[in-house]
Amino acid sequence: MKSYSQKFVLITFLLIFLSNFSNAQKQTNERAKWFTDSRFGMFIHWGVYSGAEGIWKGEKLRNDNNYAEWLLYRNRIDREEYVTLLERFDWDEINPEEWVILAKNAGMKYVTLTAKHHDGFALWDSKVGDYDLGNYTIPKRDIVKELAIACKKHGLKMGLYYSHWVDWEHKYGWDHTREIYGITADEYDQYWQEKVIPQMRELLTNYGDIGMIWFDMWIHYSNTVVTKKQLLQLKGLIRELQPNCLVNSRLGLSIEEDPDIDFKTLGDNQIGSKKEDFPWQSPATVAHSWGFYSQESKWKSTTTLLKSLINNASLNGNFMLNIGPRANGDVPYEIIQRMLEMGDWLNVNGEAIYGTQAFDLRKDQHDWGKITCKETAEDFKLYLHVYTWPLNKTLYLTGVLAAPKKVYLLADKQKAGLNFVYSNVVTEIKLPATQPDNYVSVIVVEYNDKPQINDNLVSKTVDGGFSLLPQNQNTTDDNLIINPKERLGTVPAHVEVDGNKTFSWKIYVNEPGEKNIDISYSFQNESKDSKLSLSVADKTISQVISQTGETVGEPGRNYVIDNYKSNRLGQINFKTKGFYDIKLTIEPGENDKVNFQWVWIK
Ligand code: GLC
Repeated sequence: MKSYSQKFVLITFLLIFLSNFSNAQKQTNERAKWFTDSRFGMFIHWGVYSGAEGIWKGEKLRNDNNYAEWLLYRNRIDREEYVTLLERFDWDEINPEEWVILAKNAGMKYVTLTAKHHDGFALWDSKVGDYDLGNYTIPKRDIVKELAIACKKHGLKMGLYYSHWVDWEHKYGWDHTREIYGITADEYDQYWQEKVIPQMRELLTNYGDIGMIWFDMWIHYSNTVVTKKQLLQLKGLIRELQPNCLVNSRLGLSIEEDPDIDFKTLGDNQIGSKKEDFPWQSPATVAHSWGFYSQESKWKSTTTLLKSLINNASLNGNFMLNIGPRANGDVPYEIIQRMLEMGDWLNVNGEAIYGTQAFDLRKDQHDWGKITCKETAEDFKLYLHVYTWPLNKTLYLTGVLAAPKKVYLLADKQKAGLNFVYSNVVTEIKLPATQPDNYVSVIVVEYNDKPQINDNLVSKTVDGGFSLLPQNQNTTDDNLIINPKERLGTVPAHVEVDGNKTFSWKIYVNEPGEKNIDISYSFQNESKDSKLSLSVADKTISQVISQTGETVGEPGRNYVIDNYKSNRLGQINFKTKGFYDIKLTIEPGENDKVNFQWVWIK
C-alpha cells in the first residue's frame, strides 16, 4: 500500500507528464516566433554537385526521379574524383549576396544554405578534416561567412542545413550502401564525435547568430544507425552555444515526442493538409531537383507556388522555396522570374501572410480560396485569398457570426469599402467587376474583435449551390470510411453503403426559394429494393435506386469503371431565410451496395 505522500508525488508526476505531453502538441516555442511570423524563406542547395549540373561523364543522373545533389551516390563516383567538379566553379562570379538580395526581393525573411550536404563537403573553411572549401580554393573562400555577412546586411535570418546522419565522405559516415555492408555502433560514433560535433561547434561559434539548423534525417532515428543519445548530444550543443537557434524535426525526433524541437518539417514538396498549432514548414522546389539540374523541364507556375505559400499560412505553416544556383552562382532564370513575381505579390499583399494565423473555420470551407487572420490590439482582420474571382461578383463567407465593420481590397491603398450584406452566418460581399491581382486577390474583412464562428456549416459555393459530401457532413461516425479517388479521380471519392446509413449536414439559406436536389451515386445491381430519402425541415423526398451502369475509363485499354451519375431527387422549397438540417438516408436492399458520392442543392 502506498502512503498518502507517495500517492501525491505520483499524481503530481503524472500531471506534469500529461501537461508536458499536451504541450508537445500545442506549444509554439517563444524562440520560434520570428519564424512563424515570417512564413516564407529560401532554401539554397549549392555545393560540389552544382558543377556537374546533373550529368557525369555524359551520363544523366541515375534514377529518373532523383536529385542532382545525389550524384556522387547515384552514379557511384569516387569521392576524390568528385571534387574535380570544383574546377568548373567560377570564383570571381560567385557572390552569395546576390542570393540574399533575391530572397529579399521575393519577400522571404530567411535563407537556409546547405553548409554540408550528404556528400560530406563543407562549404566553409573547416578545421575538421580536409573535405571543405577552405582547402580547395585560393584565396580561401568561406561561403557560410559570406552568406552570414550578406544576411546581416540585408536584415534576413540565416539558417544552415547540415546533413548529420548521411555523410558519404567520412569513412564511418552513413552511406546507404551500409545497409548491405554494415557498420558498427562504435565506428559510427567515431564519425559523429570527430566530424559532426566539431563541425557543428565551428558553425555555431564562428558565424554570429544562426536562425536555425536544418537537419535532414527524414525517418525517425529508431529506424537508423543514429542513437537518441547522439541526437540529444547534438541538440544540447546547439542549446548551449546558441539558445535561440531553431532545430527542425528532421533531426530525427518528432515534435510530438520532444517539445523542445522547434518546428516540424514536412516531406519534400509536401504541402500542408491540416491545421497544426505548432510551427511547421514545407520545403519545396520550383521544379523537381534541389541542386541545379540542366535537364529540368517541369517548372511550377507562380500561381501554384503562391497558392502553396497561402495554403500553408492558412494552416499555420511556413513555406521554404529552393534555389539551386549553378557553379558560377547564377540562379536559373525560371526561378528568379517566379520568385520576383511572388515578391511583387507580397509587396502588395504581404500583410495577409506575415504575422498571420490560421482561422478556425474548417479546412476547405470555401471553394473560392483560403483564409488567414490577424488579431491586434485595435481589431481583428480576416484575409480572404480569392483564387477564382466569382462570375457573379459575389463572394459568400460562411460561418462567421458577426457583421464586419469594414470590407476592402488589400490592393486598394484608399481602402474604399466594398458593399456587403451580413445575415446570421453569411457575409455576402459585392466585388468589383475585375480582380485587382492576376494571381490571387485579397479581401480584408475587419471586425472589432475576434468573431465567434459556426464550424459545422456547409458553405455556399461560388456558383451559389451547396455541395454536400461525406467529408463535410456532421454525423459522427468513427466507422465511416471515405474511399479516396482512384485512377487519377476517374473513380471519385465515395462511401460504400451496404446497410442502412444516414448522413446529415447543416446549411444556411440566404436566398429562399424552390431548389433542385440532385444526388450522385453508383449502383450496379438490378434489384429495385434499394431506397434513398432526403429530408429537410418537414419535407421528405425519396427514390428507388436504379442501376447506373458502367463507362469505358480509357478507350481500348479494357478498363471499365462504375458510373457515378447525377440523379434528380426532386425539389424542395426553402421558404424562408435560415438554417436547414439536411438528412440523407440510404437503405440498400439485401445484398445490395450503393456507393454514395454527393448531394447537390441549388
Ligand atoms: C532530402 C534529400 C536532399 C534534399 C532534402 C530537401 O532529404 O535527401 O537531397 O536536400 O530532402 O528537403
